[in-house]
Amino acid sequence: MLYLGADHGGFELKESIKKYLDEKGIDYVDCGTHTPESIDYALIAKKTCDEIVKSKDNMGILCCGTGIGISMAANKVNGIRAACCSDYFSAKYTRLHNNANVLCMGGRVVGAGLAIELVDVFLKTGFEGGRHQRRIDQLTDIENAQK
Ligand code: RB5
Repeated sequence: MLYLGADHGGFELKESIKKYLDEKGIDYVDCGTHTPESIDYALIAKKTCDEIVKSKDNMGILCCGTGIGISMAANKVNGIRAACCSDYFSAKYTRLHNNANVLCMGGRVVGAGLAIELVDVFLKTGFEGGRHQRRIDQLTDIENAQK
């Protein structure tokens, strides 16, 4: 399943992404926020990422003003590999090389048109594996060492 989340800075962008997903017939769960009122990005990141880590097949899209705060918060959750992207190459290669499971974007950084291109390539690109798996395992080792 695909999980979406945004603070007030990413709310409008999340709504645009939902419209695109609806048109494409892609299922998702909207973890909020559901209004443009101010809400702290860490709370939304935690709520959304707690759902994402329940299955290896889950993915997420998180938006805040810059995409940075919500990506920082997301990456605190064990099992999350969140990438803050504002260009096509990064959104593609973070899937190929980092096996990113969360795409983060800034509602005050990217327009809806670009964001949809990033979502599209992020969702359709698979992990390359091979030498990159070793590097992902090293990320997991860092998480495990903190437990
Ligand atoms: C909220 O004003 C803003 O700080 C937040 O959306 C985000 O940009 C933080 O990284």
